[in-house]
Amino acid sequence: MSMFRPDLLKGHRILVTGGGTGLGKSMAEAFAAHGAEVVIWGRRGQILEEAAREMHEATGAKVTPMAVDIRNPAQIDEAMEKIFAEAPLTGLVNNAAGNFISRTEDLSANAFNAIASIVAHGTFNTTVAAGRRWIAGGHKGNILSIVTTWVWTGSPFTVPSAMSKAGVAAMTQSLAVEWGPKGIRANAIAPGPFPTKGAWERLMPEPLARKLGDGTGAANIPLRRMGEHRELANLALFLMSDECAYLTGEVIAIDGGQWLATSGNFHSLTRLSDEDWAMIAEAIRATNSRDRAQRTT
Ligand code: HXC
Repeated sequence: MSMFRPDLLKGHRILVTGGGTGLGKSMAEAFAAHGAEVVIWGRRGQILEEAAREMHEATGAKVTPMAVDIRNPAQIDEAMEKIFAEAPLTGLVNNAAGNFISRTEDLSANAFNAIASIVAHGTFNTTVAAGRRWIAGGHKGNILSIVTTWVWTGSPFTVPSAMSKAGVAAMTQSLAVEWGPKGIRANAIAPGPFPTKGAWERLMPEPLARKLGDGTGAANIPLRRMGEHRELANLALFLMSDECAYLTGEVIAIDGGQWLATSGNFHSLTRLSDEDWAMIAEAIRATNSRDRAQRTT
């Protein structure tokens, strides 16, 4: 039973990047369940199609899957053109991300690009592709970006992600001002630990989880538990609705108080040995190559 009325997002048309899995899928499904039409982007066509079918069956809403790699500006523009040719979006959720833990001295320029090309460049290009069409058509727009609490603290062992997410937070504040007079809002959510397969396989891979005991770190969170996807989706629903039309330029943490207590980052990994890092890198690289093999684009 939702805390919101079922037609909260009636008439809304929302694009969620990375909407086929994880937190993106949970948010997209919540939007669909509250009357919105949803478009989901992701790199793996088959996974997207299954997710769209599942969401449609669960909610009755129109859910359109589009295989788009946001690292590719031409693909973004082509897909955005197709969407707006049908009808303008009312909202965009920048959720797609990439990340893995590593000692920064072990990162190549290519490793930095692997993260920044999704989180910084991909988010910018997607946002501008929507924004420019909203402005040209005189439409209102609403941008929600998923960042992390590291935008305030930095994050050891995930420097490319921390740098890129901080850039997205800066984009949020900048565009709230620049595009506010044009009727476009921009906000961000900084989630704490909401376990998902994509993130956990790269931020808490098996060798590290074994080393850290329960592998959850819940003991360090003031509310003593991980977040539930429903809780994040509720905040996203509120921010995407017209009921908070005066709220813009904010980065809102939802993390059980974690970052105030521990910064919510990976400072505890300073204790790992060279052998630990070798095992971790091997596990993450195996995950990355498995996922690459599933991509259709
Ligand atoms: C050092 C590594 C490495 C490791 C890869 N590389 N793993 N370097 N340590 N553990 C290097 C590679 O050697 C290569 O550099 C470069 O990084 C790119 O590697 P690829 O395997 O080609 O990467 P790619 O296929 O692009 O995949 C990387 C990825 C992928 C894009 C990040 O993991 C991905 O698609 N992730 C999506 C899901 C995800 O990560 N979700 C988590 C989001 S969590 P060289 O020089 O050898 O070519 C998040 C914040 C969470 O954003 C906050 C929680 C609190």
